[in-house]
Amino acid sequence: MKENHSNKSHWNNHASQWSLIGSPLRPCNEDVQMFTCALIPAGEKGLLLGVTPELANLTSDITAIDNNPAMIEKLRAQKTNVICGDWLEMSFPLASFDFVFGDGSLNAISYPEQYEILLKDIAKIVKKNGLAAFRIYAAPEKAENVEAVVYAAAHGKIGSFHAFKWRFAMALTAKNNNANIKVAAIYREFQELVPDRELFAQQSGFSLAAINTIDVYAGSDTVYSFPTLSQVRAVTEKYITELAVTHGSYELSECCPVVTFRV
Ligand SMILES: C[S@@+](CC[C@H](N)C(=O)[O-])C[C@H]1O[C@@H](n2cnc3c(N)ncnc32)[C@H](O)[C@@H]1O
Repeated sequence: MKENHSNKSHWNNHASQWSLIGSPLRPCNEDVQMFTCALIPAGEKGLLLGVTPELANLTSDITAIDNNPAMIEKLRAQKTNVICGDWLEMSFPLASFDFVFGDGSLNAISYPEQYEILLKDIAKIVKKNGLAAFRIYAAPEKAENVEAVVYAAAHGKIGSFHAFKWRFAMALTAKNNNANIKVAAIYREFQELVPDRELFAQQSGFSLAAINTIDVYAGSDTVYSFPTLSQVRAVTEKYITELAVTHGSYELSECCPVVTFRV
């Protein structure tokens, strides 16, 4: 997706409330372990799509690429080589990397058009027999109902607001029959179905501070994609070969697999 002002401020806000964001939005130790096990066999030279701090030192030779200066700032203290650039317009020479990886990176671009552009490029810039691994927020093959997700939260059946937010967003994409959704639309639907945040906080057990992180979505032009794994495979299989699907044990981890591919 092309960077624009309100997309930029969306990710600026994301950067500033990083400490309030937990699993499944932020990769936990289990996820980092899965990336490490999957990618170490490929070699040292890796390209990280984004600036996820937990992944920036996976090996001693990581280049991170992100189009948002505020997000890049998060890595300033680390030794990682950081490039400010668009994943959809990368100009690395052929076979530049042993592996490429990202945490929720595919979900930050539009399905399927931008997936096609990125995966085609990955097949070129990663050396032959190199690897790719992505943690993907994959909507369940059997979609949930939006109201049922809110009902479950209001009855204390969902452990964290972030797990709720992803289930809510995934249910909305299923309802709209479109894997892509503007985060502003997620916000609007939430406001409509949850008019009283204090009551929702009491019922759900989520803190108001966690619930209020959704305000970052108001008025944003950012589009997220939540395809199912089958939909993701419909694109990846054209360019790279799937090797393994693993997931952690945290809440909603079944919808956050780390998928590894041979390039
Ligand atoms: C990796 S993704 C997903 C969230 C992730 N779990 C994290 O670490 O914040 C978020 C990052 O992608 C970046 N981004 C989104 N679309 C991009 C694009 N087309 N090119 C470069 N960076 C992009 C945003 O600036 C943001 O820093």
